[in-house]
Amino acid sequence: MKLIAAVDKNWGIGKDNDLLFHIKEDMRFFKEKTVGNVIIVGRKTLESFPASKPLPDRKNIVITRDTDYKCDDCIIVHSTDELFEVIKNYKENVYVCGGAEIYSLLLPYCDTAYITKVDAIADAQKFMPNLDEFDGWKLDTDGETQTNGKYNFKFCTYKNELQ
Ligand SMILES: NC(=O)c1ccc[n+]([C@@H]2O[C@H](COP(=O)([O-])OP(=O)(O)OC[C@H]3O[C@@H](n4cnc5c(N)ncnc54)[C@H](OP(=O)(O)O)[C@@H]3O)[C@@H](O)[C@H]2O)c1
Repeated sequence: MKLIAAVDKNWGIGKDNDLLFHIKEDMRFFKEKTVGNVIIVGRKTLESFPASKPLPDRKNIVITRDTDYKCDDCIIVHSTDELFEVIKNYKENVYVCGGAEIYSLLLPYCDTAYITKVDAIADAQKFMPNLDEFDGWKLDTDGETQTNGKYNFKFCTYKNELQ
């Protein structure tokens, strides 16, 4: 299982149930990785998508504790046990796509994290664990800094040595 996220310099990921940055190159990278594969999101992240709808061309698994929760074209699970029962049937890559609660919950089960590091400090309310200081996680690829004119950013890959 892999994790994918865009973070600011403080590993901030979100504010007001929205992303901190809308960087076209990062959106393209996210799409390249996840289309045709399986994504796992928390209920709040699902509801942050346009019209609260699942992302197209991917299997969307949504985690919630609400046993009455319904969403068309999503697979709903209520615990990590239920999640693992569901994903063992898939041959596709499985990406943990946030938000903060779900990154923390599933980080120990991920072998790789694709982190887009944005060289900015946003006014974040939600954060993911800082993988530079997280036991077992090591920077594997430190991408070249790119710019979109507004932000400098780079695509980094971390590996979980405990997996
Ligand atoms: N920068 C990025 O790459 C990125 C990516 C994705 C999201 N985000 C941002 O992250 C923020 C949302 O993160 P968040 O932490 O507020 O919400 P979240 O992780 O998306 O969803 C939290 C919800 O997940 C469910 N949940 C959590 N732990 C569970 C467990 N053990 N078992 C069953 N269900 C569980 C609960 O749903 P119920 O309340 O329904 O029970 C909980 O309210 C937004 O700002 C979003 O834009 C950023």
